[in-house]
Amino acid sequence: MPAFRSNHEFKWEIPAKMVRALPMALGFLSAALASPERLRPIEPGARWVDDQGIAINAHGGGFLLHSGRFYWYGQHMVAGDAGNSAQVGVHAYSSVDLCEWHDEGIALAVSPDPKSEIVKGCLIERPKVIFNSQTGEFVMWFHLEEKGRGYSAAEVGIAVAEEPAGPFRFVKGLRPNAGHWPRNVPENSKRPLSPGERARLSGIAMSGGPIADFPIDLVYRRDFESGQMSRDLTLFVDDDGAAYLVTASEENATLQISRLTGDFLNVTGDFVRVFPNGFNEAPAIFKRRGRYFMFTSGTTGWAPNACRLAVADSIWGPWKPVGNPCVGTAEQKGTTFGAQSTYVLTVPGRANRYVFMADRWKPENPIDGRYIWLPLRWRDDLPVLEWTDSWIPTLGPD
Ligand code: GAL
Repeated sequence: MPAFRSNHEFKWEIPAKMVRALPMALGFLSAALASPERLRPIEPGARWVDDQGIAINAHGGGFLLHSGRFYWYGQHMVAGDAGNSAQVGVHAYSSVDLCEWHDEGIALAVSPDPKSEIVKGCLIERPKVIFNSQTGEFVMWFHLEEKGRGYSAAEVGIAVAEEPAGPFRFVKGLRPNAGHWPRNVPENSKRPLSPGERARLSGIAMSGGPIADFPIDLVYRRDFESGQMSRDLTLFVDDDGAAYLVTASEENATLQISRLTGDFLNVTGDFVRVFPNGFNEAPAIFKRRGRYFMFTSGTTGWAPNACRLAVADSIWGPWKPVGNPCVGTAEQKGTTFGAQSTYVLTVPGRANRYVFMADRWKPENPIDGRYIWLPLRWRDDLPVLEWTDSWIPTLGPD
């Protein structure tokens, strides 16, 4: 019996909160109640097939719980060199128990039109979907790069759908917060670059990773008019229904957190810079007991590096780095178990149940990338990530 599972006995105490959320939780609950012993365990890093026996193809994933079903949206990769670019689109799967996944097809398809921003061969990465209860729309944000321009466009793409599995309709691509200054910079920094600063900046080769003397106070000012760069991203909906974009910006040097408009189709212009010159990417954010937690990675492309954890009492920060949450061997800690964060799923009705989700990328054959899902354990109110070969996300209390 897997180590994790033995710590989690079935104790069916249904909290009042869950009773109120019963319709939503019902699918999950009934699946778990019906056959907890028959659930197929999650095996981090193993080949994972859907309910038809076909390998799940949803990398850099985002998750949504809607009407008792979990939805998994991810990059559909193909074999070989071209596989890292968007040849097909965003693939969706659904599940009631997180173990058994049903193929819902391509939720957002690339376009055959060479003039489309999402033409086949562009980059569509890290799709995330949230539901807007005001508009009744499902809204997808993803990292969008124009075909043939590498990672230089650094935009977000936004798409909407009437149903959780789509089809999603592409709305627009943009660079966030054009014409707005971050909340947390001094007033005297809120000015465009001088010709001298512009010349200095244009002489520096940016790699997307740390470089010596990174011009940390120049890049967001350079991008004031065009909008801020946005690469790895995630979305977060707070308890009050406000939604936020968390994104690797400023040539990957600085995270930016931006509040979305009420329809979730744009940013408001209200944003903060987080960890300037920290070179964080792959953000995955969640909230527990009023506190915000954010996992990130360093910036080493497809190659894994050590996970980082930060905490805050407000989404706007200040964010406090609290180190590497991984325990285990030096190799496991140094590489986040060979993976890079993409999402933390909160399972409602169980205040203490969070699933860390990450990708073990295979850039040489991207279709074979693997999914590393680990249940969060808690130590001194901080999450800890520990390897387990196999586990079942039951509804038992933490
Ligand atoms: C990683 C990023 C991935 C992908 C990759 C390309 O740093 O997290 O989503 O963009 O770089 O090299």
